[in-house]
Amino acid sequence: MTIANIALLLLALLAVARGQQEVGRGRRKNFEVMVPMSDGVELHTKIYFPRDSTSKTNDGKFPCVLDRSPYGYGDMEEFMNIFLPFGFVSIGQDMRGTEKSDGNWNMFLDEAGDSLDMGNWIVQQDWSNGEVYTFGMSADGMGSIQTIENAPSWLKGQYVGWAPSRIYNVLFPHGAYKQKTTEDWVTDLDMANESWLPSLLQTIHENENHSDEFWGQVEMSDEKLANVDFPNAIWAGWYDIFQAETLALFDGYNEKRRETKLVVDPVGHCLEAQTFWTQDVVYGRTGLALAQAFEVFGIMDLKRTNIKNITYYLMSSNDTAGEEAGQYWSTTEEWPKHSPTSYYLHAGGVASTQSVVGGEDESTTYLYDPADPVPTVGGNNLPHSIGGSIPCGPLDQNEVDDRDDVLVFETEVMEDALYLTGPLLANLFVSSDAIDTDFSVKISDVYPTGEALIISDQTFRMRWRENGDAPDMIVNGTVYNIEVNVWNTSYAVAPGHALRFTVSSSNYPRFSVNPNNGLLLADPEYPGKNVTAMNTLHHSEEYKSKFILPVVEKPKRVRVLKELESMGISDEMVEVFATRLGN
Ligand SMILES: *[C@@H]1O[C@H](CO)[C@@H](O)[C@H](O)[C@H]1NC(C)=O
Ligand SMILES: *[C@@H]1O[C@H](CO)[C@@H](O)[C@H](O)[C@H]1NC(C)=O
Ligand SMILES: *[C@@H]1O[C@H](CO)[C@@H](O)[C@H](O)[C@H]1NC(C)=O
Ligand SMILES: *[C@@H]1O[C@H](CO)[C@@H](O)[C@H](O)[C@H]1NC(C)=O
Ligand SMILES: *[C@@H]1O[C@H](CO)[C@@H](O)[C@H](O)[C@H]1NC(C)=O
Ligand SMILES: *[C@@H]1O[C@H](CO)[C@@H](O)[C@H](O)[C@H]1NC(C)=O
Ligand SMILES: *[C@@H]1O[C@H](CO)[C@@H](O)[C@H](O)[C@H]1NC(C)=O
Repeated sequence: MTIANIALLLLALLAVARGQQEVGRGRRKNFEVMVPMSDGVELHTKIYFPRDSTSKTNDGKFPCVLDRSPYGYGDMEEFMNIFLPFGFVSIGQDMRGTEKSDGNWNMFLDEAGDSLDMGNWIVQQDWSNGEVYTFGMSADGMGSIQTIENAPSWLKGQYVGWAPSRIYNVLFPHGAYKQKTTEDWVTDLDMANESWLPSLLQTIHENENHSDEFWGQVEMSDEKLANVDFPNAIWAGWYDIFQAETLALFDGYNEKRRETKLVVDPVGHCLEAQTFWTQDVVYGRTGLALAQAFEVFGIMDLKRTNIKNITYYLMSSNDTAGEEAGQYWSTTEEWPKHSPTSYYLHAGGVASTQSVVGGEDESTTYLYDPADPVPTVGGNNLPHSIGGSIPCGPLDQNEVDDRDDVLVFETEVMEDALYLTGPLLANLFVSSDAIDTDFSVKISDVYPTGEALIISDQTFRMRWRENGDAPDMIVNGTVYNIEVNVWNTSYAVAPGHALRFTVSSSNYPRFSVNPNNGLLLADPEYPGKNVTAMNTLHHSEEYKSKFILPVVEKPKRVRVLKELESMGISDEMVEVFATRLGN
């Protein structure tokens, strides 16, 4: 990129940031249009032209960048005009059933077809050079990835941020319903037809099983992913609501070409927590995202920098020990190899790499009353600033961990830093006297001060333990072995710190309360009568319950700001981009 280009970009970005009207000489007139889809439903669309778009440049034909959104033009769609200075036509479209578009919004079920119709329309316009790129964050990204289903030949590149590969796994991880987030989210969409909302929620409730018939329609199957044969880059966040599934999207998008770039920042949607991370988080993440989007759209080439395929933030505590052990960016060709290391749970609240300690109680039973669930305190939630209602990020768990229905296990205090990067698992042996119940797990960093800040958590709903089409209730007293995917992390446990693992049966409102009566969400009787359960965690020689952590060598540090500078990504550009992202 030349200095002149950079200056031009900067001016354009600043102009856009001040909300000024784009009035370049020789610019075609921007316009709004209702574009008909193949079923006749019309979608509201805004089209912006670059400077000199009436001239002979490119024969007056341009590539186009498209953002289809359910949030309306004031939100992410408008973002597209950062690409105008580089000769792109930028297009924002309201998804079917949202904002000013017609029709009803349908959990992304219509996005493969609508994006195909839209792209086909674009390339028929006299200003199109036949190339379409997509840009999409969050719901926009969830829609944009549906485009690959039909493998349109005009699709030349995609930039996707904070979007899950399999929607089911973020709304119903292990069958446990993320009711509050789901309802906050769909209620926050600019739904064109409000009376559609109850039937949308009903559809979600009716599909609490992972049926291929329903969820398979919007999931990134190997077959769909085989169509990803164009430049692309992905942005994920460790405390993001979609974390593990955005990482899975990276795996899928990278499968064929092996050229996908990935950035994993600490927060994703969880903007509330960004001050917790002390090394260049806002500048690092927005700068890298900007650079990688530019690369995908052919605007710049990152190969000459030290930024490799995967760039991620190694998190740690925000005390001095944590800042010495971690809290920096690392960049690598592929994920570091990790050694899965088991921490066995023992009576007396001990977690140890020793599988047998001897002379202990073989199980612990606690009473779980659905009327009095364990409250959620932080973690991977949709925060207030973007339409959610549950605080997110690394918050102190002591107040909830002190409850009688939360079993707490701690490691010894670390003498040396323990580096983790990869998947977190809990492999538990459990039983209950109810026909259905939940097991909730959590991993926290215990500070020398006694605070215990959450790293990750998940909940496992027993009736869906086989992940089948039909629920499978449990039998009083039978011991079940469950494996809970506690998502991923990159975290340095600093010297002087310990790890805490907890097991309980609720985490509300992050997950819906299980009334233990086996009623399904769509049952007219739901939630029905609360059933108090006596739940048991086994930790005997026969039933070794454990957490499995991804231990790695200390990751190498990269000075992200220095790399951004060498790419020509200036502070001012990042500033504008960051402001537009709500940072
Ligand atoms: C709005 O949704 C309701 C409920 O599904 C439906 O009956 C109605 O036809 C919809 N209205 C429009 C204008 O699409
Ligand atoms: C990393 O990227 C390079 C260059 O794009 C590619 O050749 C390589 O295969 C990638 N590595 C992995 C593990 O995907
Ligand atoms: C660490 O973060 C917490 C929560 O955001 C904050 O209250 C505390 O002051 C921070 N500590 C340091 C040393 O910055
Ligand atoms: C049953 O549990 C739910 C969820 O915690 C609660 O809202 C409700 O009040 C409880 N019902 C009774 C009768 O205690
Ligand atoms: C994290 O999770 C994904 C899938 O959920 C997995 O494919 C990936 O390799 C994991 N590793 C890291 C380091 O995040
Ligand atoms: C579960 O089984 C135990 C042991 O057989 C028995 O004492 C208890 O009453 C049963 N509980 C329920 C709710 O059926
Ligand atoms: C589960 O999936 C099937 C489709 O395979 C669907 O017909 C059924 O209603 C679903 N059942 C439940 C209990 O959600």
